[in-house]
Amino acid sequence: MGLRFNHFLLTFKILAFALLLAGGADSGAVSAQDGEKLFKQNCSSCHRIDQDMTGPALKGTRERWEGREDLLYKWIQNPAAVADMGDSYVNSLLAEWMPRAGLMNAQAVSKEEIDAILDYVDNWEPPVAEETTTAQDDAPAVGDGGISSTWLLIVVFILLILVFSLWGVRSSLKKLQDAIAESEGREITPEMPFGEKAKIWLWDNKVYVSVFGIFVVVYLAVAGYDALMGVGVYTGYTPDQPIKFDHSLHAGENGVACVYCHHSATKSKHAGIPSTNICMNCHKAINQGRSDEGTAEIQKIYAAVGWDPDTQQYTGEENPIQWVRVHVLPDHAYFNHAQHYVVGEIECQECHGQIQEDYTVAGQYAPLTMGWCIDCHNQTEVKMDGNGYYDEVHSRLVDHNKEELKKYLEDGTITARELGGWECSKCHY
Ligand code: HEC
Ligand code: HEC
Ligand code: HEC
Ligand code: HEC
Ligand code: HEC
Ligand code: HEC
Repeated sequence: MGLRFNHFLLTFKILAFALLLAGGADSGAVSAQDGEKLFKQNCSSCHRIDQDMTGPALKGTRERWEGREDLLYKWIQNPAAVADMGDSYVNSLLAEWMPRAGLMNAQAVSKEEIDAILDYVDNWEPPVAEETTTAQDDAPAVGDGGISSTWLLIVVFILLILVFSLWGVRSSLKKLQDAIAESEGREITPEMPFGEKAKIWLWDNKVYVSVFGIFVVVYLAVAGYDALMGVGVYTGYTPDQPIKFDHSLHAGENGVACVYCHHSATKSKHAGIPSTNICMNCHKAINQGRSDEGTAEIQKIYAAVGWDPDTQQYTGEENPIQWVRVHVLPDHAYFNHAQHYVVGEIECQECHGQIQEDYTVAGQYAPLTMGWCIDCHNQTEVKMDGNGYYDEVHSRLVDHNKEELKKYLEDGTITARELGGWECSKCHY
């Protein structure tokens, strides 16, 4: 369900994007949409629209510069030149901001582009807080395809109740019979031993008994299979984290590459959770969030690394953040990020979902079961061309093992399975 919805969303986005391109193509001029893009490209590293950051909040700029429109263009294109002109408004601006932030640097934007940026700023509305959906709703229900074991359990349970109540009815009938017989002074049929009775009953009801038996066997098989393929794994697990770190904001809106933070994914088994120092690369300068809450969350980074934002100095009091781990494979299974991301050239999103769009808090997207691993190994064609690692494998196959190679190449592809991705020892210690 979630998966299908994502596809729908993707199609919708592609369509919207195509329309946008088509619409933009014949107009040619700089539009308000470009304003947003230009703002993000050139100004957003120092300016926010509604809050002061490195530079002042830009909302209301046109009003503040009323009567100085030409000067405003000049200011943005070359602040140093305007600073020397002695304009009273510019002087008051500099008096307030120079000590904190120094002089704004010259911006390579044309007049039209400045108009577009300021239009965007004027028309900007604060984002409405999105309703947060739990990841449980979003998580694709992988593995729900087969016979549901819950249903089997219910059916078995109902059958059991039926059997026992029939047994109950039968024995009350027998008691009633006996009571009537007694009252009429007839002889009571003697009680048979339980084993004997059960045998007769089973034989009398052989059809029901065998159907029931089949159910039990099937149920046990399915339950066993489920247990093997998915012990203790859950999708959509999104625990509360000590800092409300938002993937959609960082990796999505701000376009930070996954491996900027999870850099060990390129060279080791683990992707790793970034240390707080990596956060500080940006958050030394970005000390305010979108709301008071966001700002308070950023303060937690400072508390963790021991940074005093007032003195702009480290205090030495560190308090490492205890992130809650989401993905955990059992100890006996081996998984390697570099093998998949670098050698296999598989994007993070294939296994972790559209983290940059869908997750405010990272959650578990894939089931991480053995079934999931081997399914993909069976289906995924290994990208051989121009991949140095495989040139070697390939030449080995060609040289020594023509028969093997023929078998592999029957369908014209080599899958991870054919390279050994189904061997127990590759994944199990
Ligand atoms: C490197 C940081 C930086 C960048 C990038 C930057 N600015 Fe600024 N801007 C400042 C600072 C700092 C000030 C405050 C004045 C000063 O100290 O120079 C400022 C002031 C301004 C002002 C005056 C605001 C007011 O309240 O009157 C405008 C308008 C402005 N910037 C527009 C822009 C635009 C448009 C862009 C992008 C094209 C941009 N700035 C990019 C740092 C920056
Ligand atoms: C700015 C740094 C940053 C960027 C960029 C980033 N992440 Fe993360 N990631 C984190 C932090 C911090 C956590 C721990 C908090 C959490 O789980 O949300 C995390 C957690 C995760 C987890 C869960 C780890 C666990 O506990 O099992 C996954 C999966 C993940 N990130 C994948 C990605 C992917 C895929 C991308 C790129 C689309 C990405 N991240 C981009 C910082 C980042
Ligand atoms: C082939 C599937 C696959 C790909 C591709 C993949 N991951 Fe993972 N990821 C996993 C599995 C499986 C785990 C659980 C590993 C464990 O528990 O040992 C995991 C765990 C993680 C974790 C938790 C911390 C850790 O190191 O175990 C993070 C963070 C993460 N992945 C980020 C990423 C990022 C970023 C990328 C892309 C550069 C990526 N992953 C690519 C399958 C994948
Ligand atoms: C590459 C730069 C970069 C890095 C690295 C980075 N951030 Fe951010 N962070 C940003 C930007 C940009 C914003 C958004 C500012 C805005 O638009 O309000 C932000 C905002 C935030 C917010 C406030 C969100 C809100 O709702 O207002 C938090 C909390 C945060 N980051 C935590 C972290 C943590 C924790 C790390 C380290 C794991 C980290 N960031 C690393 C650039 C970065
Ligand atoms: C999205 C597809 C995909 C998923 C999911 C996936 N893998 Fe892989 N895996 C590959 C591909 C493609 C290769 C081949 C790349 C290579 O040879 O390194 C591979 C290679 C491997 C190898 C090396 C095999 C060899 O021949 O040396 C191991 C070990 C492995 N995977 C373990 C796992 C485990 C454990 C999981 C589940 C937790 C998993 N993989 C999930 C695609 C996947
Ligand atoms: C591509 C990687 C991969 C291969 C190949 C693989 N397994 Fe697994 N296996 C896993 C992972 C990952 C788990 C843990 C999944 C989970 O927690 O449900 C697992 C779990 C298991 C379990 C369940 C243990 C438990 O936790 O209850 C058994 C048993 C098992 N594997 C046996 C095998 C055997 C036998 C083979 C060879 C025929 C094999 N596996 C091949 C990845 C693999």
